Amino acid sequence: MKILFAASEIYPLIKTGGLADVAGSLPLALRTKGHDVKLIMPAYQGILEKVAPIQKTINLGNPFGVGDLRILETHIPENDTPIWLVQCQALYEREDGPYVDKNGQDFEDNHLRFCAFSWAAAYLVSNSELTGWQADILHLNDWQTGFAAAYLESWKNKSVAVVTTVHNLRYNGSFEMHKFASTQLSTELLTMQGMEFYGRFSGLKAGLVYADAITTVSPSYAQEILTPEYGDGLDGILNVLSDKLTGILNGVDYNAWNPEIDPLIRQTYSTASLQQKTTNKQALLAENNLSTDLTKPLFGVVSRLTEQKGLDLILETLPEILAQGARFVLLGSGDKTLEQGFMALQQQFPEQVAIRIGYDEAYSHRLQAGLDVLLIPSRFEPCGLTQLYALKYGTLPLVRRTGGLADTVFEEGGKANGFHFQDATSEALKACLQRCLEAYHQPEIWHQKQINAMQYDYSWDKVTDQWIELYSSLIQ
Ligand code: ADP
Ligand code: GLC
Repeated sequence: MKILFAASEIYPLIKTGGLADVAGSLPLALRTKGHDVKLIMPAYQGILEKVAPIQKTINLGNPFGVGDLRILETHIPENDTPIWLVQCQALYEREDGPYVDKNGQDFEDNHLRFCAFSWAAAYLVSNSELTGWQADILHLNDWQTGFAAAYLESWKNKSVAVVTTVHNLRYNGSFEMHKFASTQLSTELLTMQGMEFYGRFSGLKAGLVYADAITTVSPSYAQEILTPEYGDGLDGILNVLSDKLTGILNGVDYNAWNPEIDPLIRQTYSTASLQQKTTNKQALLAENNLSTDLTKPLFGVVSRLTEQKGLDLILETLPEILAQGARFVLLGSGDKTLEQGFMALQQQFPEQVAIRIGYDEAYSHRLQAGLDVLLIPSRFEPCGLTQLYALKYGTLPLVRRTGGLADTVFEEGGKANGFHFQDATSEALKACLQRCLEAYHQPEIWHQKQINAMQYDYSWDKVTDQWIELYSSLIQ
């Protein structure tokens, strides 16, 4: 099968969260099974330095009046995956992140930036004579690519099957109606059963309604988004579309996340040499000038700091846990109030708390290897990858029971691999942390949970067949 996989961030080229990890690793898993997969992504500033030399350039003209759109054909050097970069200087060559400026504000022209990107993907699958490659499947991811389904709809192109994966329903990519004219889309699409969304137009909703299949990144989240609590205003339309909605759990690239071979950690280890994990804990504590008492647990967080992640609950709860001797390390950035809250906690407990505001891929591996417990008290979590990484490193996840967290972390039974709580309240989190502390002081129970955790197989290999089955069902 020929699959064009469109995403606004792809590891190792650019990453702000889990979408990049998935876009970097699912296509690879599909290619390993013999499928012909190409990626497509905007040519953000600095990307050209990270890819192989350009093999071919295709000029698509100036459909949006902001400059020529060019397709640069190349591949990712680390894994040879072919990629089309959509180049347009005025839209993508900026010093800041892929979506926001230095102050964390969405770019004013994001509708145009991602309409142009989506348009290019739709145009290429509709005009295979330009590339010599006719896709069977166009796989869209989140709102930044959802507009592609709308272009195909308005061009009445039915020659390619469209799959839209929802990684996060909260970001619906909706914009004020006065911006619609610049999208070059037909106003016929602006209906309630179309891409209109509470008086705005939405890229994600376009991706949902005009796709042949919709997936989310875990089975539980696929159920949750049909309810008003988790539906973010899209539950109504999702219920209408539920026949084409499924949940397929994300996988992990164990070549990148594996304590047996990870070059980014102090000491590699496996289930057979689990005691060597302690060296990583010691190093992490020392690196942060925290007390190196190994009899007390080390908790931590690696996360975007947003309302989604429920980290305010940690701020409310942690002082009591720290009073019992635990230590806490955080790596993250985002919401300024949360950043300040965690910095204040560090000032209050300088010997027990280390906060690093920023983004640091290598340090995130050192945390996964050195922590005893990774805290993920999310209000909602479509899949969550950090708990899957933690499991592999024998770091026990403590999670709120929602979405992909509920599907992958278990507290009870012979396969228990972590801790979980139900209500998004500081009381429920506190009770869970207390259970966790008690377990920590029962080494046999703890050790067994670690072994269970490390033995879970959440590799892509296990789920790729579900993807292949889904794609095949659409092109028969
Ligand atoms: P989300 O996509 O909602 O942010 P996931 O758990 O799916 O959550 O994926 C988050 C990814 O981003 C993981 O690979 C995690 O290690 C990484 N990550 C998050 N924050 C940081 C950070 N500050 N520095 C380095 N990596 C981070
Ligand atoms: C989103 C979700 C996260 C998921 C990731 C990759 O960012 O918040 O739960 O793991 O996408 O699918």
